[in-house]
Amino acid sequence: MPRIYDSRKRVLVTGGAGFLGSHLVDRLLRDGHEVLCVDNLFTGTKRNIEHLHADPHFEFVRHDITFPLYIEVDEIYNLACPASPIHYQYDPVQTTKTSVHGAINMLGLAKRLRCRILQASTSEVYGDPAVHPQTEDYWGHVNPIGPRSCYDEGKRCAETLFFDYHRQLGLEIKVARIFNTYGPRMHPADGRVVSNFITQALKGEPITLYGDGTQTRSFCYVDDMVDGLIKLMNSPAEFTGPVNLGNPAEFTMRELAELVRTQTNSSSSFVMLPLPQDDPKQRQPDITLAREKLGWAPTTALSEGLKPTIAYFRQHMAGTASAKK
Ligand SMILES: NC(=O)c1ccc[n+]([C@@H]2O[C@H](COP(=O)([O-])OP(=O)(O)OC[C@H]3O[C@@H](n4cnc5c(N)ncnc54)[C@H](O)[C@@H]3O)[C@@H](O)[C@H]2O)c1
Repeated sequence: MPRIYDSRKRVLVTGGAGFLGSHLVDRLLRDGHEVLCVDNLFTGTKRNIEHLHADPHFEFVRHDITFPLYIEVDEIYNLACPASPIHYQYDPVQTTKTSVHGAINMLGLAKRLRCRILQASTSEVYGDPAVHPQTEDYWGHVNPIGPRSCYDEGKRCAETLFFDYHRQLGLEIKVARIFNTYGPRMHPADGRVVSNFITQALKGEPITLYGDGTQTRSFCYVDDMVDGLIKLMNSPAEFTGPVNLGNPAEFTMRELAELVRTQTNSSSSFVMLPLPQDDPKQRQPDITLAREKLGWAPTTALSEGLKPTIAYFRQHMAGTASAKK
């Protein structure tokens, strides 16, 4: 069915007080929409959205999406879910519930409203991939019973639910497989590699490398990712995804650590620790589909995106330090 909105939509962003969600909320407001941010503040924080409280087009509701929600909106971005291993392993049962019950509740809402819904899925659905780089038709190599499974399998089940609601009930769905994203408002204690390295470098502490530091990751700047999510949401109804969104430029952990050390002017040394269980050795998106279907590709180089990210961490650490005084 063709979309009949003029320009302003009422958009629900679950997880809108988190890292990615808060940037998406900013962008949707800038684009002239009304935004309802729903978040239980597990890993998100009011600080990420406090600059929006005076905006009459912004609303915040503290709510856990594992419980049903009755509201009226035109579009749903489902981002609610802790994204870093430290956070999603803190309460693994709740993590699975957030992905699975959360998806059921949000899909139920979309079904009642007959509105379009986008799922923030993840490259973790590929597990420790046997195929490199990963294309969307690769089914993955995932441990169903390991410590990361609550996240990986939860997200896989959410994808299943999205596609069953689409096939069975004709719901307009969009599934984005998000690869590592970084930028300002990342949680400084989330244990993810970018935040870890920056925090350690700014404190002058040794930078922790796991294994021999040759495992690779790709890093997408948050503004590029938000752009991709919005393009996906606005793509023709017949395009459901799943579609990889990420930056294909691949860096070893050692290369990233060296870049961070240079940009922070830090004298931190490197310390080597054993690889955590189920840690993928290589991760790189193939974004051919996103290029073709969405006309999307990231434009921010890692060396550029690190600058505002490091500036944010500096500010954040200074703020924390002064608040403690
Ligand atoms: N950042 C990345 O690199 C990345 C990579 C792949 C996928 N993703 C996905 O993107 C989404 C956003 O990730 P992020 O990096 O912004 O993480 P984040 O932890 O900063 O944000 C997640 C938000 O969801 C909220 N939340 C968690 N459980 C909830 C629940 N039950 N009900 C309501 N709110 C809940 C948290 O409080 C937080 O604000 C997640 O779904 C994540 O799986 C992110």
